[in-house]
Amino acid sequence: MLLAALGLATTSASVVSFDDRWRDPTVTPDVRAQAALQAMTQDEKLALVHARYGLQPVHGRKAADAIGSAGFAPGLPRLGLPPLQESDAGLGVANPSGIDRLNEVTALPSSLALGATFDPALAHAGGAMIGGEARRAGFNVLLAGGANLTRDPRGGRNFEYLGEDPLLTGRMVGEAIAGIQSQRVVSTIKHFALNDQETGRIVLSADLGERAARESDLLAFELALEIGHPGAVMTSYNRVNGVYASQNAALLSILKRDWHFDGWVMSDWGAVHDTVPAALAGLDQESGEEFDDEPYFGAPLAAAVERNDVPQARLDDMVRRQLRSVFAAGIVDDPPRRTRPGDLEADAGIARTIAENGIVLLRNERGALPLPRDLHRIVVIGAHADRGVLSGGGSSQVTPSGAFSLIKEQATGVTSGLKFYLPSPPLAAIRALSPQAEVQFVAGDDHAAAAAAARGADAVVVFAEQWTAESYDVPDMSLPTGQDDMIARVAAANPRTVVVLETGNPVAMPWRDKVAGIVEAWYPGARGGEAIADILFGRVNPSGRLPMTFPQDVGQLPRPAAHDLRSTQGSPGAPYKPRFDVDYGIEGADIGYKWHLRQRIVPLYPFGFGLSFTRFAETGLAVTSEGGRVVASFEVANIGPRAGTDTPQIYVESEDRHFVRRLAGFVRVTLAPGERQRIEMTIDPRLLATFDEATKRWVIAPGRYAVSARSDALADGPLATVTLAAQSLAP
Ligand code: BGC
Repeated sequence: MLLAALGLATTSASVVSFDDRWRDPTVTPDVRAQAALQAMTQDEKLALVHARYGLQPVHGRKAADAIGSAGFAPGLPRLGLPPLQESDAGLGVANPSGIDRLNEVTALPSSLALGATFDPALAHAGGAMIGGEARRAGFNVLLAGGANLTRDPRGGRNFEYLGEDPLLTGRMVGEAIAGIQSQRVVSTIKHFALNDQETGRIVLSADLGERAARESDLLAFELALEIGHPGAVMTSYNRVNGVYASQNAALLSILKRDWHFDGWVMSDWGAVHDTVPAALAGLDQESGEEFDDEPYFGAPLAAAVERNDVPQARLDDMVRRQLRSVFAAGIVDDPPRRTRPGDLEADAGIARTIAENGIVLLRNERGALPLPRDLHRIVVIGAHADRGVLSGGGSSQVTPSGAFSLIKEQATGVTSGLKFYLPSPPLAAIRALSPQAEVQFVAGDDHAAAAAAARGADAVVVFAEQWTAESYDVPDMSLPTGQDDMIARVAAANPRTVVVLETGNPVAMPWRDKVAGIVEAWYPGARGGEAIADILFGRVNPSGRLPMTFPQDVGQLPRPAAHDLRSTQGSPGAPYKPRFDVDYGIEGADIGYKWHLRQRIVPLYPFGFGLSFTRFAETGLAVTSEGGRVVASFEVANIGPRAGTDTPQIYVESEDRHFVRRLAGFVRVTLAPGERQRIEMTIDPRLLATFDEATKRWVIAPGRYAVSARSDALADGPLATVTLAAQSLAP
């Protein structure tokens, strides 16, 4: 009778026993998942492993229950399993279906700005903010956790990621995911793996040997998974060593076998190309099936299981993994429901704090900054600084439902689309901090007019912008639309010119030596204008550090030639151009600063670099090794005139050249003038090891290792050596 009441199909062959422990929150998610699985019919199982686009229908109609976001899967009401309401949420809850359908949402600064904070606690706070807003909007699966590394500073999605270093990326993404999931929703980590450029992302093969991949891109994922325990992993669009990531057994077995990932693997939208190879390789759910040539995990998977081309046990594993994650996250016991917004001021405060800590001061000559508070005439130029701050485009775009500016992108020959400016105009914030001054705004399109306005002003702040977006890489490292010429002319007219960059990537700066100050503000988020003004006027002492190297120009890159740029958007099944391969073996694991060290080429600004209005010194480095545990300790002192925050970094190098210099630790320390603090950091042994492909283990070669404390990857700093015995690390 109980079976009948629950509507269980007692005739189904797959209902082997009945056990309602899936309802019991006191047993483990594994037990609950197994119990729920056993209560399901075959059709119910098959229904859970393919999900639809939750927004505009590509084919057919939007599911009635879908909120209207990137993904939707119906769930199983009779077992109390909620539908999966999936929203993009890397930088805030994306709101592609229109601004009036959701609560007000908060846009964080770009992930590069977060990376520049070097502050895992801020990553956690940002994630928790997003998780809370998503829950109150009714979403239970957040497509977040972008963990790809910057292999090319022209990448259109670099702004969604945390830069070039696996330790920094792994720790920050891991904490962001932990923050999201602290709000009892599921987070993904994405895009697994090597989705490091947009050009041709749906056709290219990212080619890289296993050792190099394990020591770079995969290490970032490995660390983030350990810290954040995301419920799901999203595979990438590209092929990896010739095989699409969504059906790449070598790649997915690293995740599931070697790293013991127990959640579910979902595809990216339109990234599935076959049924049996994907199912056997380890894909657990097809996302946005309308974007694929066929709903591969719909009827074709049912038939493949029927034929036993895909074993029943594999289908059960797909379902069990998904169930495990939804039980573990808490979305079954406490489903998100649309409620009133939370404390939006507090949420905006988190966005502002991230921006204030992630804005990087790159140049400050003749004490140009901070700006004094008693200036008479300030000229602000360019980048629509009167209207807002730029944000990056694509699926991560957050559109606040309050007033916001929409500006049609000027044709640059490559990218097209709508640029969104978040409603936090720097001009207003500068005026607020300088009420006595005459503050004039000049659009900057007319270079001669901009230079004329700048002449004789007490301060000139030029805003320069580079819009980047998902689906497009940028053609080169130049600021678009003639801004270099504009800056050069303004700087020639007024030597006190300070340039504020709102960019998604490093840019070349042919005018660098002509300007007094340079501030990298990235895409600074919901309170970006206020954060920029706080830095310019010294209300906040800058502390951001570059999470990626700024090369001088594209000539310094491993692959200097420009891509054959076109949008990645082909129609499904009709890729925009033939397949091609990208050889990431050129630099291998030596991305960014490691590449510059290996090639002995000096970048414009190295990884880890950032100035402050005070000065710091690192001294007294000591390194100990006990039982394989390597600990570095040193002292940091504020030797300048103001309170400030330093981010000393520990690097390791193998004296036998098993690997080039690697970041092995970082910490933020806030010190008053004259204050000093002793720091201790334990080094993750994987950063002292190489990955042995034969045994699939991390191996420390016996020998001497240099350990250094530096203010950036290339700066001089105290050095110590440590001798290590041979060691094979437990898998
Ligand atoms: C992107 C993913 C995103 C998905 C859903 C894809 O095009 O690559 O990052 O989560 O769309 O919007």
